[in-house]
Amino acid sequence: MPSRVIAGTALHTPTRGRFEALEDVLILVDAIGRISEILPRDHPRFAEIKAQAERQGNLTELQEGQFLLPGLVDLHIHAPQWPQLGKALDAPLEVWLQRYTFPLESRYADLSFAREVYSALVETLLANGTTTAVYFATIHLEASLALAEICLAKGQRAFVGKVAMDDARQCPDFYRDASASTAVNETRAFIQSVRDRAGEEDPLVHPIITPRFIPSCTDALLEGLGKLAEETGCLVQTHCSASDWESNFVQERFGATDTAVLSQFGLLRENTILAHSNFVTDEDLALIRQKGAAIAHCPLSNFYFANAVFPLRAALDKCVRVGLGSDISAGHSPSVLDGCRHALLASRARHSGIDPHLPPEERGLAGSTISVAEAFWLATVGGGEALGLPIGKFAPGFKFDALVMDLNAHGSNINWLPDLDTIEDVFQKLVLNATRSNIVMTWVNGAVVARSSAAQMRDDQA
Ligand code: GUN
Ligand code: FE
Repeated sequence: MPSRVIAGTALHTPTRGRFEALEDVLILVDAIGRISEILPRDHPRFAEIKAQAERQGNLTELQEGQFLLPGLVDLHIHAPQWPQLGKALDAPLEVWLQRYTFPLESRYADLSFAREVYSALVETLLANGTTTAVYFATIHLEASLALAEICLAKGQRAFVGKVAMDDARQCPDFYRDASASTAVNETRAFIQSVRDRAGEEDPLVHPIITPRFIPSCTDALLEGLGKLAEETGCLVQTHCSASDWESNFVQERFGATDTAVLSQFGLLRENTILAHSNFVTDEDLALIRQKGAAIAHCPLSNFYFANAVFPLRAALDKCVRVGLGSDISAGHSPSVLDGCRHALLASRARHSGIDPHLPPEERGLAGSTISVAEAFWLATVGGGEALGLPIGKFAPGFKFDALVMDLNAHGSNINWLPDLDTIEDVFQKLVLNATRSNIVMTWVNGAVVARSSAAQMRDDQA
């Protein structure tokens, strides 16, 4: 018996660049939040299962103008930077870190401040459709644990990392781990505590090993965290080849690229999440692919801090795993749908180039543009594959992480002409135009974790 049945039309991109509409289907979800079956309208048991679910109070039926989308995956977000969203993006990365970001992150020694910010952030992300988030927290063990607990309590699928950064030449006295061994030991304790809270079997929230980036870590710390990843089997995340300053710094210190250095220290592993990776070479991409690591493409923050446009098409052509990251607050939007729009624009910038005085074929890199369906795939299936999780599409065995999108929601920007718009047009309009107001319900692991205020009012009246 399914524990929940959802009736309606589901839109998704099960393979890269291929849009599919599952029209008027029943999605059967089991007790552990997994899709057990998807029944088309003409299935012999369709009417019986629907009627039975209705009798038992287990049926959710979408209304006219409503569509299901898979939940969105944010592969790279700094939770403590939420209070500075939209601020100070005109300084270069290294200045922005020292002047604004490290002072803000140091405030999370205060646990009640951390709880307040993290609760508001997780609620906002769920309302914006982020069903899975991969978080950098801060160096503080207690506050990082609080973020994991808040994700568990609010029902968001998450990877949470206590940030590790110990190099006194790059990190200020007021904000760094006391030593490499302290950082490794606290990361080990953090992993154990998150696992204790989330449980061993099919956990919703996972710990993730988080060296901030190579410049902020000593060799001893990088080595210690590489060994810890091997010992615990925990995933790893870090920033990689992000800007001229950062990649030149790594070249000068090691005479090698970020990717090669991470690999030497045992940090480039299956499902390691590399934020940015804008300056990767073909050899770097081959190494990332060989190790089964993945790239979090952060197009918005790249426009501010990268001095380059990520070679997305090259990465996809080389079968490297790629998903999208908001990179809050170097990116200033909590919406992964915005991330799709920014990825589309970045791909067009790379394709078109910038010099109008060159002939069109010499301006940019032909073949760099992505489609709306590819952008949405990055935000869903791409993110799931990066993490090695069965999320991002509607298929048996996949988790029911989903959004109910309402074209007619109060405050919607979407215009819809049923006689002119195909179902794929509707999908494109949702990806390009939907705002938080169109997301009336967010599901994670088969449970409703957020409802818009309009949906709450309707339910209260019913
Ligand atoms: N590199 C090291 N730390 C950070 C950070 O907090 N944000 C971004 N965008 N890049 C970083
Ligand atoms: Fe970042």
